[in-house]
Amino acid sequence: MAVFASGRGTNLQALLDAFPPGHPLGEVALVVSDREEAFALERARARGVEAVHLPWRKGRFAEEAQALLKARGIDLVLLAGFMRILPAPFVEAWYGRLLNIHPSLLPDYPGLHVHERVLAAREAFSGTTVHFVDQGVDTGPLLLQARVPVLPTDTPEALEARVLSVEHRAYPLAVRLLLLGLAGPEPLSLVLRRIWPEVPYRSRPYYLRAERALRAWGRSVEEVGFATDWARAAFLFAYRVEEELAGGVRYAVPLPRELEERVEALLGRVNSRA
Ligand code: GRF
Repeated sequence: MAVFASGRGTNLQALLDAFPPGHPLGEVALVVSDREEAFALERARARGVEAVHLPWRKGRFAEEAQALLKARGIDLVLLAGFMRILPAPFVEAWYGRLLNIHPSLLPDYPGLHVHERVLAAREAFSGTTVHFVDQGVDTGPLLLQARVPVLPTDTPEALEARVLSVEHRAYPLAVRLLLLGLAGPEPLSLVLRRIWPEVPYRSRPYYLRAERALRAWGRSVEEVGFATDWARAAFLFAYRVEEELAGGVRYAVPLPRELEERVEALLGRVNSRA
């Protein structure tokens, strides 16, 4: 994996911690920054990970980055506080393997100065979103979201700190889901593709995870349908993945013992560090 970062790189740090060299699922092998003085580059070097400063020259950055990613055999690119908008051909070439983390519950509050805007609007909740990058800015299919409360006494800095601490758990978790084949940008099955336009944007990651959980269990939506215990178990898994991040919400679904065990086992796999 490569991480692109422009600044202090606390999310990069979380990714370096979660995916060190030799990790069986994948390792952060390269860190790229458009800013030479970015602390993110220091963090990479401190871990013995290759750190490259690529200056932002329109057109050139993406070409040079592409060549570097290819030369290093990178499969997945993670944007973590990367403050540039990558050009369309790059985004297209990496679609499905290019993630970003944003400090709000998208589609609400895309762009900059998120925490100030959230406070000004007196929102009760904010959070973070990991999403697949598409041609828009902070658009693209959702992979994972995590909510945090907004407190009446919050300053932008206090809210930022609360959001950041959940980001540091959410980003590695999202990457794990992707590496385990339990997340993707689009539905796999025809059944799901057919109903896709009706599925609300924010509900989509649950459907995508549920569908992939069924596949991990050797089943498919086509085979089991939506109103069976298998489907309920898959959705339970899909929701419970976010449960801990969301602050301990408990989803209760009565299921046969065998399926409950499958849900627990798959969650164990996702939440393990190995
Ligand atoms: C994070 O809040 C991330 O969501 C946003 O930029 C910030 C980067 O912080 N895209 P850091 O550099 O990872 O500390």
